[in-house]
This record gives sequence, C-alpha cells and structure tokens, in this order.
Amino acid sequence: MAAPTLDIHFGDNLSVISEWPDESFDLIYIDPPFNTGKVQARTQIKTVRDDDGDCEGYKGQKYRTVRVGTKSYSDVFSDYLSFLEPRLEQAQRLLKPNGSFFLHLDYREVHYAKVLLDMIFGRESFINEIIWAYDYGARSKKKWSAKHDNILWYAKDPNNYTYRYDDIDRIPYMAPGLVTKEKAERGKTPTDTWWHTIVSPNGKEKTGYPTQKPLGVINRLIRVHTKPGDRVLDFFAGSGTAGEAAFRQNRNAVLVDCNEEAMEVMEHRLSFAQPVWHGWKATELDNNEICLLDVLSVSAAK
Ligand SMILES: C[S@@+](CC[C@H](N)C(=O)[O-])C[C@H]1O[C@@H](n2cnc3c(N)ncnc32)[C@H](O)[C@@H]1O
Repeated sequence: MAAPTLDIHFGDNLSVISEWPDESFDLIYIDPPFNTGKVQARTQIKTVRDDDGDCEGYKGQKYRTVRVGTKSYSDVFSDYLSFLEPRLEQAQRLLKPNGSFFLHLDYREVHYAKVLLDMIFGRESFINEIIWAYDYGARSKKKWSAKHDNILWYAKDPNNYTYRYDDIDRIPYMAPGLVTKEKAERGKTPTDTWWHTIVSPNGKEKTGYPTQKPLGVINRLIRVHTKPGDRVLDFFAGSGTAGEAAFRQNRNAVLVDCNEEAMEVMEHRLSFAQPVWHGWKATELDNNEICLLDVLSVSAAK
C-alpha cells in the first residue's frame, strides 16, 4: 500500500472546503470551538540549550527557559448555530456514500446541534452519541460536575457504513470475577461511554494548544470507522490530533484551520509526516528547541 499523505490548509474552513468535490472523504471528524464565551488561551514556555542558562539538565547541559507566547482563539459566537450550519452541510456533501461524520461538542451545544444534524443528514442517519468521560479538574459544590464531552455519529447511509468490530480495542471488565477467566483476560468492547483521561498537562502528547483532544479517543474513531488508505478530514484541526491519528494508522488526512498558532503547532507536531501545506509557508524548525512546556490559562473574553 502507498504511504499515507497529509495535506494541511490554512484559511476559513467554509471557503476552503466549499471548493472541493462531492463524496471525497470516508470519515469527517470536527471539534469546533464550543461557544463557551471565553478566549481559550495557553501560555507556552520552551527550553533551549544555552551555556549561560540557569537550569542544568541531562549530562550537565545548561538550558534557558523562554516564554514563547500565548496561543489563543476566540470561542465566542453571537449565533453559533448559523456559524455551524453551512459547515455541517458541507460535511454531508463531502462524505462518500458509506462515510461517517463525527461532531465533537460539549453539553452546552450538543442538543441544538443534534436537531440541526437530524435535519441535514436525516434522523435515521444518527447512529450514536458517544460520551467521552474524563475525571480531571475542580468539582462543583453546587451541581454535578460536568466531566464529559459528546461526540455525535452520523452515517451518510445508515444501512451501509464502516464499523470494524474486530479492530475495537478491549478494555478491562469492571467485575472480572463475574465472567470466565478467558473473557476476563480478553477484556470487553467499550460501550458508547468512553472513559479516557484528558491530555496530561505534563505528558509527551501535550502540544500546548488549547483544547487539544487525546489521541486515544481519536485513534479509536479512525481505526474502527475507516480502513487503511481511506481519507479523513478535520476542518477544525487545532493542534492536528486527527491528522496524527489518521497518518499513524495509514490513513490519508486533510486538515484545515484558520489560526496561525494552530499552523505553528502542527508544523512541530506533524513534521514527521512531511505534510503538504496549502496557503501557509512552513518555517524551518529550530533543532535547539528540545521541549515545549505549557501553562494553562483560560481567561474571560473581553
Ligand atoms: C476546539 S479547537 C480544535 C482542537 C483539535 N481537535 C485538537 O485536538 O487540537 C477548534 C479549532 O477550530 C479553529 N477554527 C475556528 N473557526 C474556524 C474557521 N472558521 N475555519 C477554520 N478553523 C476554525 C480554531 O482556530 C481552533 O483551532
């Protein structure tokens, strides 16, 4: 099989994807801004080698810490659904006849978006609402703490879609003592509730981009709902999680984002895949940049 390809487009997704031919993709996953009324921001610090640096690391090497800047994007829309609607219509048009669409939202917008998607795809095309449940951060003392996101799955044709049951990863039984030893060893398939940690604030996966989603969740979607060689699109790409998940699993990926900071993060994260850039000139990466750390700060919109 040919090596996978990765294409990354810079620009407003509606104008970019409106130009593309019908039925071009096997899977479309999008994770639009959630309309939280906040500016999502994350301050990044990078450590560079410097003989005069004040920090000593491996083999006595000296390092200096510099603030790279703050990555942010506005998460405020006066009319969220009219922003989403034409993009959802494009997603439906761009899907192949047996393709699947995944819309990742949170509890605030998901119900409105479900009604909109029912109108665009048809109610019978709605297959699942996947709940991605995590357990991180402060807990409310006034209500049940919201610790989940919602992923709506629509199949363009509800009688013909890709669902590779044998490729589903197995998870441990909650009560292994209640099933046979063989079953307990094999584990069970997940339901529509997926327990998965958020991207660890200090882990290797972290890119520093606000709202980066965990590879584990997106890997599962792509592995089960596409075959090697298929085409995956994410037109709210952010840090490029869907691109990494697709490419590493031998699927071709196309990403779109309108934020320069997203492009910069993807340059670092996805350089291994030698992406083809559209509307964006990738910079030479600095080999002295040995790590990226980040500090989360979500501030209220002005
Ligand atoms: C929630 S983030 C996506 C995060 C991504 N799933 C990840 O794992 O990193 C939403 C992204 O949509 C982008 N975006 C918002 N409006 C857009 C538009 N009209 N065209 C293209 N990208 C847009 C933002 O720049 C942001 O990167």
